[in-house]
Amino acid sequence: MTGVATATAHPNIALAKYWGKIESPTNLPAVPSLSMTLDALSTTTSVGFGRSATETEAKRVTALLDRVRIEAGLRTRAWVETANDFPTGSGLASSASGFAALALAAITAAGLEWDSAKVSDLARQSSASAARSIFGGFATLAAGNLDTTFLAAEPLAGTHDWAVAVSVVITTFQPKEVGSTEGMTHTRATSPYYAAWVEHAPVLFERARAAVLARDLHALGTVAEESAFAMHACAMAAAPALVYLSPVTLAVIETVRSLGRSGVPAYVTMDAGPQVKVLSRAADAAHIASVLRQVPGVEKVIVARPGPAASAKIIRQAP
Ligand code: DP6
Repeated sequence: MTGVATATAHPNIALAKYWGKIESPTNLPAVPSLSMTLDALSTTTSVGFGRSATETEAKRVTALLDRVRIEAGLRTRAWVETANDFPTGSGLASSASGFAALALAAITAAGLEWDSAKVSDLARQSSASAARSIFGGFATLAAGNLDTTFLAAEPLAGTHDWAVAVSVVITTFQPKEVGSTEGMTHTRATSPYYAAWVEHAPVLFERARAAVLARDLHALGTVAEESAFAMHACAMAAAPALVYLSPVTLAVIETVRSLGRSGVPAYVTMDAGPQVKVLSRAADAAHIASVLRQVPGVEKVIVARPGPAASAKIIRQAP
């Protein structure tokens, strides 16, 4: 039975990065990735089938809804309302929480009872990082290949037994200039380092996976930095160069390094934007955040802990 459903999903931060797709129309990552879902940020999306769409939906949103219509045998139009409690499109993974929430709200509103893997596969077709936001805590997403027809993220470890935190350092509220999808296509087409990145990323992924399973913060932080800098080096070598990091980003990185030298273990990672996410022990996060708030140019610091899985509820059954 169809109805109206609301879903909430949290962004995730990749500690082993996804950057690059295989040449296929179904949005398959070329490298495996590992992430932590963030509790402090969220996207809430409502979907209803059965009445006219209220506004023109973006192409990627329509494509997801079309897949759900086919699975549910629905012909009716849908409406979508969504809200982030954090800045959109500035490298804070809004497409991850956005498409995770949309996928879950859409299948719930369509009356489909799918397991998390199937919802994750649906979200992945719109945005690969969204596959990971279906799960709480730490999650992995394998690389795809030309024969892949189903690819879902998998949960790696629960949220409650490891006291780690990620401080999200916002260096600008401006939207980024080149989004991840476009940036990856450009990197694959022009960066001479792309092949080396695709070869090296699985090694970094395995180290990150082992570090999470061993609850080894130093090992995880070290490999997270290697993954982030290798991804950015690869993107910077594209022609023309993709430079996502700003002078404030670099000042934050330098401050995190000096915190490390003073005995506070902390590790940086950056996505396709100038924001910095700092991995640390949960007990150190308030101190780290207060130090980083003093860095000139830093707008805001939000401390996040491993967050819950995406969840949905039916608001109204269709008559
Ligand atoms: C740098 O998942 O946004 O954040 O699949 O094209 O939607 P599409 O890309 P997207 O890319 C995220 C890239 C990243 C690293 C990561 O989250 O793994």
